[in-house]
Amino acid sequence: MIKSVKDLEIRGKTVFIRVDFNVPLSDGVVADDTRIRAALPVIRYGIEQSARVVLASHLGRPKGKRNPAFSLAPVAVKLSELLAQDVVMAGDCVGEDVRHLVQGLSGGQVLLLENLRFHKAETANDPEFARQLASGIDVYIDDAFGSLHRAHASVVGITEYVPEKGMGFLVQKEYDSLGKLLENPDKPFFAILGGAKVSDKIAVIENLSERVDAFIIGGAMAYTFLKAQDVRVGASLVEQDKLDLAATLLNKTSQRGVQMYLPIDHVVARSAEPAGERSVTEDVHVPEGMMGFDIGPQSVQFFHGLLGNARTIFWNGPMGMFEDPRFEDGTRAVAEILAAHPGFTVVGGGDSAAALGKFGLKDRISHVSTGGGASLEFLEGKVLPGFAALEQ
Ligand code: 3PG
Repeated sequence: MIKSVKDLEIRGKTVFIRVDFNVPLSDGVVADDTRIRAALPVIRYGIEQSARVVLASHLGRPKGKRNPAFSLAPVAVKLSELLAQDVVMAGDCVGEDVRHLVQGLSGGQVLLLENLRFHKAETANDPEFARQLASGIDVYIDDAFGSLHRAHASVVGITEYVPEKGMGFLVQKEYDSLGKLLENPDKPFFAILGGAKVSDKIAVIENLSERVDAFIIGGAMAYTFLKAQDVRVGASLVEQDKLDLAATLLNKTSQRGVQMYLPIDHVVARSAEPAGERSVTEDVHVPEGMMGFDIGPQSVQFFHGLLGNARTIFWNGPMGMFEDPRFEDGTRAVAEILAAHPGFTVVGGGDSAAALGKFGLKDRISHVSTGGGASLEFLEGKVLPGFAALEQ
């Protein structure tokens, strides 16, 4: 059993909230505050309860070294703005100075610790470091869904040294929404998968194939599946060493009665060079020397038709190189189809969420997961270390 923050007595207590503020920065300011906003409900709840709120997160992968480029200071600025109250920024996440800052907090005040990954001990799940993080803490709340798949000190180790522990509102919401896909999805259930590599999606395809009615595949990974079926893919990106695996997956899913729908046309160019001309193929084959960078308009229509009667749709991975406007149409179309869909729609993965952001459609999806790797591992059926650590 995992306790929710609402089941814990936090009034007036010192509460350590592990959040996932691993956000993109640009010129020293937060470029996308989605993850910060997603943590606001639990932070506001802590403030309302007059708790002394200590927030901790990683940012990027500074590899155990203090590096100003990975400081959480810009996040403190953004968070102060969103909360409309001052957030105290600590110079570190452990040590004497931090202890004083924590002790000096009054009820309803918020302290943001500096990047946990400035210490190697964080990713090593070092018990002594975990004990230091827990010093002076009454209640530990994990609301960092995006980091639950990491067995790190602030996610796992710390739970051994705190008197009380539980999950925040974001983790609860993610658990409920993603859990519904695995437990009792309304049928028909379609999973749309894209992105570059088949290898990243094998486990999720295997686990979801017991639950979905069909997969729709786009992105560069589609070329590996197409080539495995002897479709001519030109110079498109193919994982040569995964061709047999792709054929096996196609076989396995079809034996289960689960369809795997692939693109039937493509947007192609000679290379990704910005000067290159784009064109659309006439059929499923990619001409010699050309590379596929997006699904074509016929594929969009085909997929749209398939999704018409769906009641649950999960989408992970862009349909093409949507960062380049020449190759964004397929991903935009899928995002629009989901946004307009009356069923239960869930989007997971950093790139698909970024695409929704780019097209301004985030608010029209039933649930957009804040987790990249974490949401995939959850849907692979793995027990995430962060969840296991919260079990009473
Ligand atoms: C993410 O962005 O997926 C999480 O914050 C985890 O980051 P990591 O892959 O560096 O552990």
